[in-house]
Formats: sequence, C-alpha cells, structure tokens
Amino acid sequence: MLNTWDERYNTKEYIYGTEPNQFVAQNIQNIKKGSVLCLGAGEGRNAVYLAEMGHHVTAVDSSRVGLEKARNLAVSRGVQITTIVADLADFIIQPESWDMITSIFCHLPLQLRKKVNTDVVSGLKPGGIFLLQAYTPEQLNYRTGGPSRLDMLYTLHDLRDELNGLIFQSGEERVREIAEGIMHTGKSAIVELIAVKP
Ligand SMILES: C[S@@+](CC[C@H](N)C(=O)[O-])C[C@H]1O[C@@H](n2cnc3c(N)ncnc32)[C@H](O)[C@@H]1O
Repeated sequence: MLNTWDERYNTKEYIYGTEPNQFVAQNIQNIKKGSVLCLGAGEGRNAVYLAEMGHHVTAVDSSRVGLEKARNLAVSRGVQITTIVADLADFIIQPESWDMITSIFCHLPLQLRKKVNTDVVSGLKPGGIFLLQAYTPEQLNYRTGGPSRLDMLYTLHDLRDELNGLIFQSGEERVREIAEGIMHTGKSAIVELIAVKP
C-alpha cells in the first residue's frame, strides 16, 4: 500500500530535484568524512550528494517509493547508499553511532519530533554534527512549500530546547529563496542550524 509520500513520489520526476539542498551543500565542505544518517531522506538528493562527497550514508524514510528513487539516483551517480524504509516513530537511532545526522525538511508532529531530537543527541558520536533545515511557522504566510499544520513547523527556540546537549555552531531563522524541484519554490521562512555533540 502506498502512503501519502509514496503517492507524491510515484512519478518519474524527482519532485525535490536531484541537486542537493543548498544549506547542505554550503556547509558540508568542512565536515570530516564519516557515517551519516539522513532522516526523512525522501528521493535521496542529499544522501547521494553526501555519498559523492565521500561519506558513508544511511537514508531512512517511511516512503518505499522515495527510497527506491534514492537508490536509482545513487546508481546513476556511481555511489552506494544504505536505505532503510521505516517510520521514525519506530526507527531506533543507536546511541553514539553517527558522525553526522541530517534533517532536511523532515517535518514531524510535535511529540515525534521531540523523541527524534532526543535520539539525535544520543545517537551522535562525540564530535558528531547535526544539520537541520526546516520551515518555521512564518512559512504559513509564504505558502511556497511545507506543511500547513502549525505543530509541524519548527522554531529555533524549540529546537534549542529539544537538542539540549548539543552545542550550536550556528542557528538562525531567516527568509531564503528556495528552488528545489516543484515542491519547494520561492521565498521561504526557514530555520537552519548546525550543532555539535561535545
Ligand atoms: C519534505 S520531504 C523532504 C525529503 C528530503 N529530506 C529532501 O529534502 O529532499 C519529507 C520527507 O520526510 C519523510 N517523513 C515524514 N514523516 C516521516 C516519518 N514519520 N518517518 C519517516 N519518514 C518520514 C517523508 O516520507 C518525506 O520523504
């Protein structure tokens, strides 16, 4: 049975494109190569890019269709990624296992988000990095992508609280021009952060 995301992805086109997210691409250069967990990796544009940059990437998402496209993209680029079809409500992020975890527009309901963020803090190795970009509630004014449910939009204030235990290297809410396939296009209100586990 196809879930909502499977249905969205069930087309030849990569609905978020095949190029990496700008925030990921801009910030990956200085991060040492290692094991990366991409949460809500979708069709794999970031997972594949990170693999091309020499990281060992695991992409987790509840969409089987999305991850199939991710694997195809990896093959077409000549890199390997591991894919895991799982709901983040069930997926276990093993403690102290990852050099980096990414969460790019992985919008979860509040309680699940809190649980996942707690697991992110424990799942990073010492020195490990968490990189997140997501829409803020202000995005409801722009309507250029993202959930329409307020409780699925993120604020820096809440993220700082939920990611207690990480040191924020950067964190800001800002308006950015986003052009990512057909789903994210135009002026967007986003929060982005890079945080490290001491
Ligand atoms: C907006 S898309 C972003 C995809 C990808 N991160 C990107 O930037 O191209 C959100 C993704 O989160 C996944 N997702 C949402 N809720 C999830 C959950 N509870 N467990 C696992 N994946 C989930 C969806 O299947 C979807 O692929």
